[in-house]
Amino acid sequence: MTTVTMSCSFVPLILNQSSLPFLSSPFKSLKFPAPFWSPQKVKMGPFTVSPMGFGTWAWGNQLLWGYQQSMDSELQQTFNLAVDNGINLFDTADSYGTGRFNGQSEKLLGKFIREFEGKKRIRDDIVIATKFAAYPWRLTPGQFVKACKASLDRLQIEQIGIGQLHWSTANYAPPQERALWDGLVAMYEKGFVQAVGVSNYGPKQLVKIHDYLKARGVPLCSAQVQFSLLSLGENQLEIMNISETLGIRLISYSPLGLGMLTGKYTPSSLPSGPRALLFKQILPGLDPLLGSIREIAQKRRKTMAQVAINWCICKGTIPIPGVKTVKQAEENLGALGWRLSSDEVLRLEYSARESPQRMIQNIFQTR
Ligand SMILES: NC(=O)c1ccc[n+]([C@@H]2O[C@H](COP(=O)([O-])OP(=O)(O)OC[C@H]3O[C@@H](n4cnc5c(N)ncnc54)[C@H](OP(=O)(O)O)[C@@H]3O)[C@@H](O)[C@H]2O)c1
Repeated sequence: MTTVTMSCSFVPLILNQSSLPFLSSPFKSLKFPAPFWSPQKVKMGPFTVSPMGFGTWAWGNQLLWGYQQSMDSELQQTFNLAVDNGINLFDTADSYGTGRFNGQSEKLLGKFIREFEGKKRIRDDIVIATKFAAYPWRLTPGQFVKACKASLDRLQIEQIGIGQLHWSTANYAPPQERALWDGLVAMYEKGFVQAVGVSNYGPKQLVKIHDYLKARGVPLCSAQVQFSLLSLGENQLEIMNISETLGIRLISYSPLGLGMLTGKYTPSSLPSGPRALLFKQILPGLDPLLGSIREIAQKRRKTMAQVAINWCICKGTIPIPGVKTVKQAEENLGALGWRLSSDEVLRLEYSARESPQRMIQNIFQTR
């Protein structure tokens, strides 16, 4: 038997090691053992979710993330490991997947949920947050309802947890924006989604949609934005404060800066694909920030990825790091169960401000 006690944010459990599926998996010799506990959940709209979810953009994306079908069995192991360790929030989108893998992220999630061998209660607790793209041909609420049905088909589930607008069209096609909002209302009223959320909405646009949905009797549950030590700035602070005031949970996407905050990439060791071009520009200006993350990680016997994710949690957000391997999932699970001190948070933010480079903003992000 393994007895584990932990900090106040975790429920202590006494577990028999043989009940931990990953220990008998082919990945048992990995460097980052997953935590032997269930993370204490947090409230998000009608849901009780883990303080971190996992993002699945890479699951089907060949262009940016080098996806191949041969990765599917490890992705399934990754999913199982996460769920077995208390993660119950998974983010996806109807636009995820490139070429013939269009929609692959939703399809894989659906398959992994169906084939999950753990307790039914745990499977039923999984919250899928998917996003609907504001394609230019989606001009009516009915088209968003149709998109929602197509996602339900790919996921093979009866109801989506959170139906999110992937982006606002306010910057470039304001008349389409109302169709988006009414689309959310319609899918909620039809019971296709349990709750609704937005993504890439700035503070002003967030208040507008919040008020509109409220008047239609639809609560806005979450706002997903790029949020990390690499995108620290006035916008990030403002959206954090507004969401808190409105009672909307902030979901942090790209919490690892697409991998840059893990410390594994350098100007002379870049990932393959288009990320290399971006990283080449940004990495040379990140020394102060990466230095501080590394130092704190070493002192705390954590990894840089764990520190970067933990910082998002300390800011009251729910980070959704993207994971491609069991090793990454195990490491990222180690971001839970402890908290950076307020001095460490300040030091990281100071170093982020000292670093001349920032992540580029999503082109669809509104004010
Ligand atoms: N709403 C939106 O517009 C939007 C935009 C972007 C993302 N998202 C969502 O947010 C999720 C997360 O963001 P993201 O995937 O863009 O970026 P991220 O979470 O900052 O970075 C994820 C990438 O970092 C690497 N990584 C992850 N954990 C690692 C670890 N422990 N050690 C070393 N490398 C590690 C992996 O790529 P490599 O191994 O290839 O380096 C992984 O794919 C997405 O999956 C998606 O669900 C939403």
